[in-house]
Amino acid sequence: MTASSLPDLPCHLNGEFGTLATAKVSVMDRGFIFGDGVYEVVPVYAGRPFRFEEHMARLDRSCAEMRMANPKDRAGWRQLVAQLAEAYAQYAGKALEDTSQMVYLQLTRGVAMRDHAMPPGIEPTVFAFVNRLYIYPAEERAQGVACVTADDFRWKKAHIKSTSLAGAVLARQLSADEGANETIMFRDGFLSEGSSSNVWVVKDGVVLGPPRDNLVLQGIRYGVLEELCRLAGVPFELRRVSRDEVLAADEVLLSSATKEVIACTRLDGRPVGNGRPGPIYEQLFNGYQQAKRISP
Ligand code: PDD
Repeated sequence: MTASSLPDLPCHLNGEFGTLATAKVSVMDRGFIFGDGVYEVVPVYAGRPFRFEEHMARLDRSCAEMRMANPKDRAGWRQLVAQLAEAYAQYAGKALEDTSQMVYLQLTRGVAMRDHAMPPGIEPTVFAFVNRLYIYPAEERAQGVACVTADDFRWKKAHIKSTSLAGAVLARQLSADEGANETIMFRDGFLSEGSSSNVWVVKDGVVLGPPRDNLVLQGIRYGVLEELCRLAGVPFELRRVSRDEVLAADEVLLSSATKEVIACTRLDGRPVGNGRPGPIYEQLFNGYQQAKRISP
């Protein structure tokens, strides 16, 4: 695929609106050269960004870790998301209320001659685009998805939502090669996360997930699932989860901005629990749909 054959989806680059097919960045952009940038993926339902403040707080944390200044305040990002959401509705020929979208926001350190050290005084590159948010059809959800396991060979700053994603790309391809949906990774025998999602284990009615530390990206759905569990009276515990516990789980769930919450029903070709999405999944999925409708 060449740039000109990309879809005409709306995008924004350094203050200008355009389309994916026409927007251009410098070959010396540090995002291109080093993956020296950070990003967010914000789901937008019927024009309302979901958990926007949480996404912005994480963007600020990523910027701080990367020693980058965030060039926009919350209102600036909110306006950009609203403009892209509106542009997508027009692109799709739909009313904004009838769309589900994902807005991708990216900041790179900017353009400079190649040098690993951070060049002082350069302007960050701000890029954003919008696309439809894939909503899993009911039949697909009822099946759940297949995953494979792999060693977590990524770096030890997985808590930064960095555009340096070579490790995630290599990890994801392991499942793609098997026709599976996600790669679930383990570091030193303990669950970390998926290549682009968080992973949850249900055992005896308790939802377990890895601690909020540097080995996982703290997905915005960490907070959402914790809240949904509290509302549903389901115990929710963050602690190290061993590989054996994952393999013996009653249910395994994935969460992300784009997957929402989905059941993993086959792991390395074997059924998880009884091989069907379980009752905790159903509860959390329904809670998530309700949260989308009522709480921005
Ligand atoms: N990925 N862990 C990793 C490594 C991720 O890349 C993601 C999200 C998550 C889930 O985070 P959240 O709930 O905030 O979406 C966990 C996004 C969707 C992506 O890269 O496309």
